[in-house]
Amino acid sequence: MTHTASVVGASGFTGGELVRLLSSHPEFEVTQATSREYANRTVGSVHPNLRALDLRFSEPDDLEPVDVLFAATPHGVSMAHVDGFREAADLVVDLSADFRLGSEEEYEKWYDGHDRPALLEESVYALPELHREELPGANLIAAGGCNATAAIVGLAPLFDAGVLDGSEHVVVDVKVGSSEGGAGGGNASSHPERSGVVRPYAPTGHRHEAEIEAEFGCSVSFSAHAVDMIRGAAATCHVFPDEPVGKSDLWGVYRESYEDEPFVRLVAGGSGVYRYPEPKAVAGTNDAEVGFEVDPRNERVVVFSAIDNMMKGSAGQAVHAANVALGFDERAGLDFQGLHPVGAP
Ligand SMILES: NC(=O)c1ccc[n+]([C@@H]2O[C@H](COP(=O)([O-])OP(=O)(O)OC[C@H]3O[C@@H](n4cnc5c(N)ncnc54)[C@H](OP(=O)(O)O)[C@@H]3O)[C@@H](O)[C@H]2O)c1
Repeated sequence: MTHTASVVGASGFTGGELVRLLSSHPEFEVTQATSREYANRTVGSVHPNLRALDLRFSEPDDLEPVDVLFAATPHGVSMAHVDGFREAADLVVDLSADFRLGSEEEYEKWYDGHDRPALLEESVYALPELHREELPGANLIAAGGCNATAAIVGLAPLFDAGVLDGSEHVVVDVKVGSSEGGAGGGNASSHPERSGVVRPYAPTGHRHEAEIEAEFGCSVSFSAHAVDMIRGAAATCHVFPDEPVGKSDLWGVYRESYEDEPFVRLVAGGSGVYRYPEPKAVAGTNDAEVGFEVDPRNERVVVFSAIDNMMKGSAGQAVHAANVALGFDERAGLDFQGLHPVGAP
């Protein structure tokens, strides 16, 4: 039986990706896509890749009942409108940061507080590789932040296997594409200002530190660079295990965690041009590439991961989480390969 879905914030970048994924998903039919600015216009008038769809934007104030509502709106919108969302749908999947952290105190610390702290206990942090067991039956799902997702997917096997136990300090550096800033990204993401840059962005105090620390219980130093790509988040994580670890040990650790995961592949050395995780190789897909190297002289392990911020880092992860929550095949609607060769994605 087909499930109905609506996308609130469908004129934005991640909202457009949700409509793209859901419109060819075997279990979903998109019945509503909202935008205040483009209400009554076709979805294809904003997203040219979706011109074939017979779907028009409607106002978010006129939500129709659906099985699943995906919210792809700026921070603060979902927490303000969550009652209306939940009235309209049995399952709400939110792509913003509004329901990712576990307590009001954390929102006081990292954001500007929270309107509906009672719901924070109820919401499930989506990243399905880590929270698969909690998703079935959930009615409020928070998709993880894109940079946090890149780091967490890369580091999780080290914590699961006890290579890291949470007492260590983890350093995360992420290179991010301009689509992270959304459709209204502003001057910093405009083509003349963004082209060719490798620009430190949020070098300290990035809010995604909170998500990574919540997963692993360790302290995280996070910095990001805005670089000249459209899609992609590439994380380089530096960790210093207490005990020496070899590369073959790490292969065992990562295989154990990921060999059955449909959306994670290991890329660590080998031959050819693409020997480590690379955003170009996952552009447009829900895949994450993860790799590593050992630096014995400095007692360091360096972990690389690459995702498409609008897929594994948001819309793809949201659809994957909904698939798990509703008992669908996990790959439904996400089972396709990326492009090669491709220009700066
Ligand atoms: N871009 C990424 O790579 C990425 C990755 C992970 C998570 N996220 C998160 O996902 C969310 C969406 O990001 P995005 O990049 O897709 O943003 P975006 O391109 O700026 O799109 C925002 C969408 O929300 C709608 N909107 C804005 N204010 C609204 C309101 N008060 N009520 C209803 N709709 C409203 C906008 O349309 P109208 O103004 O026309 O209604 C638009 O469709 C954000 O919370 C972001 O942090 C983004």
